Amino acid sequence: MRSWIHHAKGRHVRQARVGLGDLREEHISRQGFFGPVGMVYREFGPNEIVRVEGTLVPRRVADTTRAEPSDLSDPRGGPEVFLSNADVSVGISRRSVAMPYAYRDTDGDLLYFVHQGTGMFATEFGRLPYEPGDYVLIPKGITFSVMPSPGKSHMLVIESPAPLSLTEHKQTGRHMPVDPTVLVLPEICDYGFPIRNEYELRVKHGGEHSSIFYRGNPLVSVGWKGDLFPYKLNIRDIIPISSDRIHIAPAAWCTFEASGFVVITFVPQMAVADLNAEELPSYHRNVDNDESVFVHHDAGSARKPGTLSHTPQGILHGADEATRAAFQARRVPGMRRTLCGVSVDSDRPLVASEAFRRLSG
Ligand SMILES: [Fe+2]
Repeated sequence: MRSWIHHAKGRHVRQARVGLGDLREEHISRQGFFGPVGMVYREFGPNEIVRVEGTLVPRRVADTTRAEPSDLSDPRGGPEVFLSNADVSVGISRRSVAMPYAYRDTDGDLLYFVHQGTGMFATEFGRLPYEPGDYVLIPKGITFSVMPSPGKSHMLVIESPAPLSLTEHKQTGRHMPVDPTVLVLPEICDYGFPIRNEYELRVKHGGEHSSIFYRGNPLVSVGWKGDLFPYKLNIRDIIPISSDRIHIAPAAWCTFEASGFVVITFVPQMAVADLNAEELPSYHRNVDNDESVFVHHDAGSARKPGTLSHTPQGILHGADEATRAAFQARRVPGMRRTLCGVSVDSDRPLVASEAFRRLSG
C-alpha cells in the first residue's frame, strides 16, 4: 500500500528542492524515489567525509577503460563481471574479434550498451548492426554472435535472469520518452557464412559453458514472427523528461526494468533554470537501491568516459559543498546537463568483483 501520511517539524521548505537558502536538504527515500520519503534539513553540508573505518566505501569509481576482460585477447573469452547480485550482473566486454561460434545464454536476458565500436550482432532473427550509444537487448535463450568491426570495442553487458522490458511511462503519452517505432529490429539476411561439417553453439547454463555441435548453422534462418525478438535502441532516440523549475528524480528516466533492478538512461537535456532550485544531484540516500553509473560521455564535467561508479544503498551521495559552491557560481539559466550514461539501480546490494576493486583503487 502506498504511504500517504506526511508530517513536518522545524525548519523546512514548502516545495522540496526549491528555495533552500542556507538550508541543506537530504532526501531519504525507500523503494527508489517511489516509497516513503523523509527530507531532513540541516545548516551544514552533510556529505563532508573526514574518514572511514571499516570496509564500507561510500562510493567507488572504476576506470573500465583499463579493464582486460578475456574477450579482449581471446576470441573464445567473455566479458568481465564488475558488479553483481542474484538479480543482475554488470560487466564489461572489449571483444576485439568475432565470436567463433553461435552463442546462447540460457541464464538470462542480455542487455548490451555499446560505449565504443561498431559491428554486427548476427542473430537467428537476422542481422543487427550496432554503433556507439546502442542498447542491444538479446532475450534469454536467443542465439547470436557478436561480430565487431576492427577498431575500439567497449561495451557494458547487463545480464538479468528475469525478463527485461522497456519501462512504460504511462503519463507521458505513447511516443516519449521512447517512440516504439524507433526500435531497430533485426533483418533477415544471407550472412554468407562458410559451409562447415558442424556448427558450434556455445551455451551458458548455470554459469558454466558447454558446446553443442549441430549439422546446420543455428544463426541462419529465413524468417520470424512473434513478440520475442532481439532489438536495439540508440540513446539519442530517448527523449529527456525534464523541468526548468525542479530537478527530476532519475526514476523518471528508467528505460528498462526487470525484477530486482532498473536501467536508467541519462541523456543531455536542459538544466533547471530557476537558480533557487537544486540542480546538481541533490543530497540523497536511496535506502533500498544500490546505484551504479556508467559514463558514456560528459563534455561538461570531469567525469571520464568509461568509468563505472558504485554507491551502496543507505549511503548519502551528491556533490560536496565545495563542488556545489563552484557550480552555483557559474550557473546561469539556459545551461544544459551534459551527462550521457547508463545507471543500473538494484534492490539487493551489489557485490564488487576483484576487477572492480582493482580498477577503483
Ligand atoms: Fe542516487
